[in-house]
Amino acid sequence: MGAMSLLPRIRVPLRVKFLIALMFLVTSVVGAITLTMANLFHTDKKTYIHDLTSMIALHTAAETRSLLVGYQERINVFARLMGDRRVDPDEKARLLKALFKDFPDVVAVSLYAGGREPVTVYDVAKLDVAGLTKQAFLAFRRDRSVPVDRIRAGAVFVENSTLLPALPTLTMAVSRPSPDGGTPVVAAAVIRLDSLLRLARRSVAFETFVVDSRGAVLAHTDPGLVARRAPVSWIPESALQWLLGPESGGGSEPMGFTKEYVHEGVEMIGGFARVEFGNVLAGVQIPKTAAYLTARELLNNLIGVAFLLLTAAVVVGLLWSRLITRSIERLSAATRAVAKGDFDIQLAHRSRDEIGSLAESFNQMTSELKVREHALKQAQAALIQSAKMAAFGQLGAGIAHEVKNPLAGILGYAQLAMRKVGKEDTTYTHLTIIEKEARRCQIIIESLLRFARQEPTEYSIVDLNRVVEEGIAIVDHQLTIHRVNIEKRLSPVPAMRGDANQLQQVLMNLLINAQQALEPDGGTVRVATRVCNGFLELRVSDTGPGIPPEIQPKIFEPFFTTKPAGKGTGLGLSVTYGIVRDHKGEIRIESEPGQGTTFVLTFPADEALGSAEAGGPRVAAAA
Ligand SMILES: Nc1ncnc2c1ncn2[C@@H]1O[C@H](COP(=O)(O)OP(=O)(O)OP(=O)(O)O)[C@@H](O)[C@H]1O
Ligand SMILES: [Mg+2]
Repeated sequence: MGAMSLLPRIRVPLRVKFLIALMFLVTSVVGAITLTMANLFHTDKKTYIHDLTSMIALHTAAETRSLLVGYQERINVFARLMGDRRVDPDEKARLLKALFKDFPDVVAVSLYAGGREPVTVYDVAKLDVAGLTKQAFLAFRRDRSVPVDRIRAGAVFVENSTLLPALPTLTMAVSRPSPDGGTPVVAAAVIRLDSLLRLARRSVAFETFVVDSRGAVLAHTDPGLVARRAPVSWIPESALQWLLGPESGGGSEPMGFTKEYVHEGVEMIGGFARVEFGNVLAGVQIPKTAAYLTARELLNNLIGVAFLLLTAAVVVGLLWSRLITRSIERLSAATRAVAKGDFDIQLAHRSRDEIGSLAESFNQMTSELKVREHALKQAQAALIQSAKMAAFGQLGAGIAHEVKNPLAGILGYAQLAMRKVGKEDTTYTHLTIIEKEARRCQIIIESLLRFARQEPTEYSIVDLNRVVEEGIAIVDHQLTIHRVNIEKRLSPVPAMRGDANQLQQVLMNLLINAQQALEPDGGTVRVATRVCNGFLELRVSDTGPGIPPEIQPKIFEPFFTTKPAGKGTGLGLSVTYGIVRDHKGEIRIESEPGQGTTFVLTFPADEALGSAEAGGPRVAAAA
């Protein structure tokens, strides 16, 4: 547990996990395909290349053999002529000259008969062309003598006898029966290598070579090796032993074989075949890389394609995972915003998958949260308002109680003094003013008490429509004077429990306010009743200037007025509020500046009255 907790927890994003999985998949699939294909191709190609190498070697051997057999025939023709004693020497020379012309490859022919010195004839013109002197040629012939005894026993001898690069030649020696029945005669000829070299140069892909009886290069793609009579160092020893060993009599041994070996650090595939003539060997070789070039190219291509696929997979994976995780990231960012209280957030959801429906649910959640928050704020405002009103009520009630008795004293003594001084006295006028102002104060005190009154009153059954009719009748005259036109829209409503006088006062307060708002030009006031959601609704609307939103929450407070001193005390709506509250009703404003004002009052119908919970009416300002 300790070791685990010591390790820092690495946060691997979903995107990266996605990518790793995808790349693992693609890599294994592509890798498996590449390996299988490369392997398949390689195995197939190996047999094919060995077969081809062996075939070309055998073919070269066969061609070499037919060339050498041709040379042997020519030597025989020369030898026959040279050994014929019946021919006149001049005639012989003429015939030999003609033979050299007919066989342009043949440079010289020597005849070894009995114990005598060999007789040699040669084409001076051919030596001259190559820049070789007669002396040098004869000296070389002497130094590298032909193994006459071995050839007499029936063997054929072939060797590279090049003296100058300009004149690559081979020496071939064959034995012939003696014309007089004695020891066989050996005929050795120096023959130009041109035909064999052409044969060696024929293949472009393969390095072709022919090896003579001494194990030296007889013909090769590289003429330098021929000129140097270089040993064929690249051929594995075992192969050389087998090939250059004594010629096998039977045909049971294989004609040739292929072998893989390293020559000068290069891996080679070689094919070797016996020419079956004078222990000569034909061979071809090709670097392994060249032989497997196509296979290698294919492998390289496959690796390239694999890399391309991998890159494509990475790009596609990145884009794809980005696409998926981006919406998740956006969602989580939006969630954080919502947690901070921003409910205005809406996610764009175009995809129709799970993430799309998640975003849809998220949007639904934020809109619902928004609605709830709005409702919560309204409830909170109403709570604050009613608490405030309750505080005002207590304050007002306290003041009213304190002032009520002294005021009664002031009024009583003023009236007493008035009676004593008589109407003629100037003091009388002063006393009437005191009495009038004291009465005004009493009315205010009563209003305050009415607003603040907490104890429940006994209510009777009231017909709201009748209350409205009577209230309008009282103020009708005053309204008409001020050019205010009253419209009534009374629908039948159920009875409610309440105090008709108080409700009448509510209506009158609202009508007077409306009339005052319509000053000086007048206008229309509409009074409407109806049933709404099981409640009785009373609406008083005017076409006045409306109430600015910033003062809407204040208009129910006692002494809040916008009217000049003396015209309004700011008690009308607070009294109204107190009465509506006592009736378990609600009062709210629907007003916008310039659009007029509507006061909406709702009261519970008769049966609900007794059971409604206590508390002030809800005041909602609706802009
Ligand atoms: N219909 C209305 N149109 C525009 N403003 C109104 C309307 N009714 C009330 N008000 C505003 O509300 C304020 C408070 O009204 P309230 O009736 O409580 O006091 P008042 O009318 O000013 O004085 P009082 O009613 O005591 O004579 C008013 O001063 C006025 O600014
Ligand atoms: Mg008023």
